Amino acid sequence: MDGASYPVSPVTVVHSDVVVVGSGTAGMAASLALAKAGRRVRLLTKTDDLPGGSSLWAQGGVAVALGAGDSATDHAADTVAAGAGLTDPAMARLLAEAGIVEMSALLAEGLPADRGADGLPLLGREAAHGRHRILHAGGDATGRTLVTFLAARVRATPGITVHTRTMAADLMVRETGRGRRVQGVLAYEDAVGWTLHVAPHVVLATGGTGQLWAVTTNPEEATGDGMALAARAGTHLADLEFVQFHPTALAVAGPPGRRPLLTEALRGAGAKVLDSGGHAFMADEHPDAELAPRDVVARAIGGRVARGEKVFLDLRALWAHGGPGKFPTVAGICAEAGLDPAAAPVPVAPAAHYHMGGVLTDADGRTSLPGLWAAGEVACTHVHGANRLASNSLLEAVVFAARVAAALLADPATTQPVALPAAPVVPGGAAAAGLAAEAQLLMAEKVGLVRDGIGLAEAAARLQSLSLAAERLAPATAYAGIRAGMELRNRLLLSRLVVEAARRREESRGAHTRADHPETRDAWRHHQILTYSDLAHADRGLVTPVTTREHRP
Ligand code: SIN
Repeated sequence: MDGASYPVSPVTVVHSDVVVVGSGTAGMAASLALAKAGRRVRLLTKTDDLPGGSSLWAQGGVAVALGAGDSATDHAADTVAAGAGLTDPAMARLLAEAGIVEMSALLAEGLPADRGADGLPLLGREAAHGRHRILHAGGDATGRTLVTFLAARVRATPGITVHTRTMAADLMVRETGRGRRVQGVLAYEDAVGWTLHVAPHVVLATGGTGQLWAVTTNPEEATGDGMALAARAGTHLADLEFVQFHPTALAVAGPPGRRPLLTEALRGAGAKVLDSGGHAFMADEHPDAELAPRDVVARAIGGRVARGEKVFLDLRALWAHGGPGKFPTVAGICAEAGLDPAAAPVPVAPAAHYHMGGVLTDADGRTSLPGLWAAGEVACTHVHGANRLASNSLLEAVVFAARVAAALLADPATTQPVALPAAPVVPGGAAAAGLAAEAQLLMAEKVGLVRDGIGLAEAAARLQSLSLAAERLAPATAYAGIRAGMELRNRLLLSRLVVEAARRREESRGAHTRADHPETRDAWRHHQILTYSDLAHADRGLVTPVTTREHRP
């Protein structure tokens, strides 16, 4: 159904205790915790070097209840309120409480956070947070500072072997007397070729799926690889219909791909959203105006952009009062685009930003497939519900990476003899880019901020034909072409699963808006679980009953 065939050719075999796939915050934090406990870790990343992933581009900060008068209870309450009825309160509480512990440990270990004259971390305020609780580092370079700090420690840890330019192709799963269990990862490494990484545990930390859409704040590696790997292995995925669009990416022309983010903290610091007539329209849309929840601001801007209007972020007042010093990343982005925010408002548009759904896990990152773990954006812990609260994502990656490591260390699994797979033939190469771009534009048009049943059905049919076209591409032989083919295969599978989830959820809730079902329905106040076989059924015109998980209010 989706692509790779497996004739015989040589595969190198490598053994370790744990394979971690992904080199962002979650992957590096989990690797460090596991290596510290004496485990031999292999970290696979398709990027050229550490760090990779979306964390590098995160400007907003880390939400953590460290301020006087703040508490984990208040942070959890704001997280639950943002989740539009689907955040699990116990998970929100766990995130907020463990967040204080994990972030305090990172600060004690030397994470260079921004501090005030009293030496305490400076805490900012962002939309839908009731308190000042956003920790920053390097001003608006928080994610970059965090992953640079982690990458230096990974490089200095002998127990972690980093495999760069390595594309994870598939999970290897074996039948045991007690059911199925993961036994490693088949990957293509530029320097080595096809490699079977045998290990009793695999941690997915591949981040999100922003590159499934034509305009995204995510880097080029965010093609949903971990979710696709898990799906093909039969693992449960949850809440895939909930995709958060950031309201204010810089609106610059270009081919499908990443657009620079203009952090929400700008609006927290007074920036206004203007239409082309100079009117600050957010006050007409929501009582909190510029500080309304992210999905409200994104739809208000996105609706105007869809009608062909231009929308701007006005930074002039902020830039007159030290803005460039506080937001050096934004200043650099604008300068690179030839824009002067002190002189004129800058053009903005929404962009795919964060996937609330993902590989279903428990509170310790355990998936439905024994031996497979997930942490960070690739996972769905129900901590974000239908809409993520700003600056909770870096915190989630730090907290759940630590929890995965702790739970995995307590799991006594050992490696069993493995059957050597044949190396796959991957349809891919340069022609994959054209199909990928078509899928990205389709997702943006039919599966964006506002969806409807007809558009989703059209998207499902077109994605199926694109999948067939992808299978007919010429076999790729070198790393770039193999990576492109594998990413296309992952992108199309994930896109189809997102469309299937969005078709089934006939209501509007949080980040999922259906023009044909504008109401939020109590009957839909539950999580939706999908597997690969649901898609196989949909291909044959059969509809599987919706699998749901009760929501714990
Ligand atoms: C932002 O800086 O606006 C993004 C932060 C986030 O997504 O949490």
